[in-house]
Amino acid sequence: MGGAQGVVGTATYEAPPNIALVKYWGARDAALVLPYNSSVSVSLAGMRSRTRVRFDTALREDRVALDGSPAVGGPRASVVAMLDLVRAEAGLTARAEVVSANNFPTASGLASSASGFAALAGAASAAAGLRLTARALSRLARRGSGSASRSIFGGFVLWRAGARPDGSDCYARPLRDEGHWPALRDVVALIADAPRKSVRSAAAMQASVRTSPGYARRLEELPARLGAIVRAIERRDASRLFPAVMEECDSFRGVCETTTPPLDYLTAASRAVLAEVRAINRDAGEPIAAYTHDAGAHVHVFTLARHRAEVRRRLRALPGVRATLVVRPGPGARRVDRPAASVRRAAGARRRAR
Ligand code: PMV
Repeated sequence: MGGAQGVVGTATYEAPPNIALVKYWGARDAALVLPYNSSVSVSLAGMRSRTRVRFDTALREDRVALDGSPAVGGPRASVVAMLDLVRAEAGLTARAEVVSANNFPTASGLASSASGFAALAGAASAAAGLRLTARALSRLARRGSGSASRSIFGGFVLWRAGARPDGSDCYARPLRDEGHWPALRDVVALIADAPRKSVRSAAAMQASVRTSPGYARRLEELPARLGAIVRAIERRDASRLFPAVMEECDSFRGVCETTTPPLDYLTAASRAVLAEVRAINRDAGEPIAAYTHDAGAHVHVFTLARHRAEVRRRLRALPGVRATLVVRPGPGARRVDRPAASVRRAAGARRRAR
């Protein structure tokens, strides 16, 4: 730690976005971000948020830069709220400089809030000198954005809803790591002219809880569907996973559409992708692909490596699909500014053991 004046600590983290196979949609406690239901996701390779945090007693206020521009309004406030949680836990008063950038378009429906808050939670807690377990880090990231709790881990991840009012049992844990299912692919159909989100997910989902007549039934159906999805992941069983993933996506979309006022995240081109995936499965005579989407217009289409070229060809042929990305399950959040530190510690431990 630094002296009375100056830099208290600096750390840089990277974290991936994730795509939910079972959606988080609705909080039993919106302030603590405690969901009604457990959710399941896949962390995505090749895409990341990279965030550097420096706590410095010489700073008069928090400085936040997102993708090269100073953050203002809501985005700045939610970063400062995360810094405040870390300061309270560490007993710090120093202000911070936060510099964060994504290697994919922000607010595009590719879940930049999940990767962004996971990277911020990691960097801020490390810079403040907190040594959090992955579970504690997941709980902290959750406070920035629920889905960020899952981006702490790589591969296939379960965020358990928990039951305690204080959220201590509400965190994500890895189900299977990123190497578990080497053949699985996510073909992301990037939709041309995808609209920017007008309502934050956190507010939109609470409107669904209050007003969608289908919300209660969705919650009743979820434990069985979640169990089927987890089992299919464990067994690498695409023929069971893919229909369940589409059923879950349809349930999520149904709740959104029956919310007052209705939430419609898709464009005509997104809907054409859903229809094409149904056609691909009809033509194949078995489920070889599964669509899912979050609160945005882009559509993730899961398939297996042997069908990847065909799925991609058919999606690219649709007008309104600007491009496709082929993504695999990827690693979770990690500290990237001190790659030598763990090596040094390991070397020290070996010396001591001699
Ligand atoms: O974590 P939030 O507040 O951005 O909400 C995530 C909502 C969905 O992306 C639609 C579902 C999910 O579980 O990721």
